[in-house]
Amino acid sequence: MELEAGTRAHYEDAEYYASNYADRTDDIDFYVKLAAGRRSVLEYGVGSGRIALPVARAGTRVVGVDLSAPMLDDLRAQLAREPAGVRERVEIVRGDMRDVRLRERFDLVICPFNAALHLYERRDVERFLARVTEHLSPKGELVFDISLPMPADLARDPARAYRTPPFVHPSAGRVKYAEHFDYDGPRQILFVTMVFTPMDGAPWQTPLAHRQFFPREMEALLHYNGFQVTSLTGDFAGGPLSNDSEVMVWRARVRRKKGRA
Ligand SMILES: C[S@@+](CC[C@H](N)C(=O)[O-])C[C@H]1O[C@@H](n2cnc3c(N)ncnc32)[C@H](O)[C@@H]1O
Repeated sequence: MELEAGTRAHYEDAEYYASNYADRTDDIDFYVKLAAGRRSVLEYGVGSGRIALPVARAGTRVVGVDLSAPMLDDLRAQLAREPAGVRERVEIVRGDMRDVRLRERFDLVICPFNAALHLYERRDVERFLARVTEHLSPKGELVFDISLPMPADLARDPARAYRTPPFVHPSAGRVKYAEHFDYDGPRQILFVTMVFTPMDGAPWQTPLAHRQFFPREMEALLHYNGFQVTSLTGDFAGGPLSNDSEVMVWRARVRRKKGRA
């Protein structure tokens, strides 16, 4: 239940999602450049198209898979306002990235902005990577980005509210905002509870559950599921992964030969 809620809730308000992440553009530029010149791209966790729309506008077809009806409704509404050429280049599939089977292979499969952190158990990762393998063309590439676990976040006191300055929420107006962090070490899942308190009106809470993948662990998961990591960087500009990195950008290909990589 808590994992289901932690996967769904944050994506129920697509308008807030868009306003909250409006300044996040490094990853958009990165994925648009990566997709340039490719015929089509499969995006897992396409959401409301923050990445997919710019990729399609730049001329590449995108097939986007996502679980969240509100995020996909928002993507459809945005698409309706795009020119016909862009509309035709985006195909939406509602479903689970661990299960969906499309009758197509892609040169590029992407899973941007922490969508992979909703794969909580080893079996979830295995099912996801099996679907990726089925959808990659022989020389195709898997590219995804996830947060680097932050020891300070994992050590936070669950009873404490971490506040940020009030801000204007797109539907509720001015709100006070706080987050609670509760790290489940044995399961390596960070539970974040976002608490919104409007100036007038009742407060509400949004849970978010993110699996924490440590770098060597992800490398092993990729390896033992048949992938070879071709690049791991600590930002979208190709900088090295370091203790100060907030993100891990992974690029991998399916290993064709049996044996050690
Ligand atoms: C942080 S959002 C990223 C959305 C978009 N790619 C972006 O960069 O803004 C993560 C997305 O992954 C989706 N998601 C989570 N688990 C999923 C699953 N098992 N199958 C498909 N989509 C999933 C969520 O519904 C959400 O839209």
